[in-house]
Amino acid sequence: MSDDVETLDPVSHILECFRLRGDSGYGKEAVSQLEHALQSAYAAEQANASPELIAACLLHDVGHLLHDLPEDAPDQGIDDEHEQLGAAWLVEHFVPEVVEPIRLHVAAKRYLCAVDPEYFSKLSPPSIQSLELQGGPMTKTQAAHFELHPHFEAAIKLRRIDDQAKIPGLSTPPLSHFANYLSQSLIGRSES
Ligand SMILES: [Fe+2]
Repeated sequence: MSDDVETLDPVSHILECFRLRGDSGYGKEAVSQLEHALQSAYAAEQANASPELIAACLLHDVGHLLHDLPEDAPDQGIDDEHEQLGAAWLVEHFVPEVVEPIRLHVAAKRYLCAVDPEYFSKLSPPSIQSLELQGGPMTKTQAAHFELHPHFEAAIKLRRIDDQAKIPGLSTPPLSHFANYLSQSLIGRSES
């Protein structure tokens, strides 16, 4: 990321990241990173989710934009740990209701694979491939522990939206439409 981008306020910085790198592929899925983010945020908005969860849906894969690993990294056996990268980058600016579901969205996939056979049966092939690199389905003990996390429910909601936000050509509002949800979710600025 250039120095010019680094000096922007957090919301402008994120919008610029999507403008600069959002057209990169979302792994092997048939949509770009920006399309995936917009479809996720739009689905959350349509479901009357909180501003923080809409922001989380928009930003949940921003970690993919923060590294220079190739799009076929999973083929090389590499887990980019994008959920941790993204959360570490966002935590300085956004409230926990945004950051923690993002940090947990891979764990939420591992949880749902453990407790919901139908969920696993509907995962896309790239998501099944990355699941293996991410540790596979949780054990029963891990799943029970995960349910106690204070952001468990938000993480599951985000995950289920994430898995459906891969529709080629789906029309969504533009990135600017969601900027206000980001502003509302900054530390010290939440109106909810
Ligand atoms: Fe995603």
